[in-house]
Amino acid sequence: MTRQRMANPRRLECVVSERFSYLRPPEPSKRGDLAEAVRHSMANAPRSIPPRFFYDEAGSGLFEEICSLPEYYQTRTETAILKDIRPELSQYTRGRFRLVELGSGSSAKTRCVLDAMLQGGAGAEYVPIDISDSLEGGAGSLLDDYPGLSITGIVDTYERGLLTVRHMGGSRNLVAFLGSSLGNMSASESDRFLRMMRDFMEPGDLFLLGLDLDKDAAVLEAAYDDSRGVTARFNLNMLHRLNRELGADFDVSAFSHHSVYNRQAQRIEMYLRSNADCRVSVPGAGITVSIKRGELIHTENSQKYTVDSIRAMASSAGLQVLRLWRDKLGMFSVSLLSL
Ligand code: TRP
Repeated sequence: MTRQRMANPRRLECVVSERFSYLRPPEPSKRGDLAEAVRHSMANAPRSIPPRFFYDEAGSGLFEEICSLPEYYQTRTETAILKDIRPELSQYTRGRFRLVELGSGSSAKTRCVLDAMLQGGAGAEYVPIDISDSLEGGAGSLLDDYPGLSITGIVDTYERGLLTVRHMGGSRNLVAFLGSSLGNMSASESDRFLRMMRDFMEPGDLFLLGLDLDKDAAVLEAAYDDSRGVTARFNLNMLHRLNRELGADFDVSAFSHHSVYNRQAQRIEMYLRSNADCRVSVPGAGITVSIKRGELIHTENSQKYTVDSIRAMASSAGLQVLRLWRDKLGMFSVSLLSL
């Protein structure tokens, strides 16, 4: 049974058990409003749908499938790096640390970081921040496997979630942002995000950042257009979502998944391509649009990095790279940053 009480006037605290509670804003965030976003981003060409809308229930399921595809090396490579570096990471997390995870990602990765923190003798407090309401799912087995652990989930944007963490006081924070999710932000969002992190951090806090490395175009393109078509279904689910939630009448079979590596910008770009001229109404967003054959709807970028670009990006945000780890093949990186 969930007990609710007001933690502070702007947040509801839901207490699930002695060791697990979560905080949510009394009203859902505006960023979660699909209708509002689509009204702006789909009205005129070049059209787009913001990537944060990938993750409804169907999309989250497909994303999990992507993570275990043979072509999608990221998840398993990052997990292997985290597993390997546990002893080294624990050298940095002596004393009491709180693990703040941006996006309640895969629990295999979370466990590696928790293992390192516990080796360092740290108290175990885990604070996942996620805009979607999916925090309750993985908590049970973590609590079973880590008897000393307590979890406080925060359902909110990263920025507002971190403000809440600031008010919790006490321990030093290890903020983890994994899965190369930074690379899904635009350059200006990513800049702004890193500066926000710098402002959030206090001396002694740490920031663990997982980033995908630049590599051969064929390897990258296969990772974003797998042979089983899972990534295609994940991308096309955006249109199904507009049909389901906004009453749109997209003929989804007339669109195809299109992903290309842009060498110049060092990023994968994902689009939905219309294979026919069509007219689509999206009543929930109050728009009707004419889409031309061959027109591309942008859904996401995935930036690729080099050791130099990571260092430059950190230093321009006022952060320093204490360590940067890579797997043996140099496919993926995990960096530890501080003020
Ligand atoms: N951030 C990861 C990446 O860019 C995961 C991801 C986000 C992803 N959206 C995706 C993977 C779409 C495949 C397709 O790779």
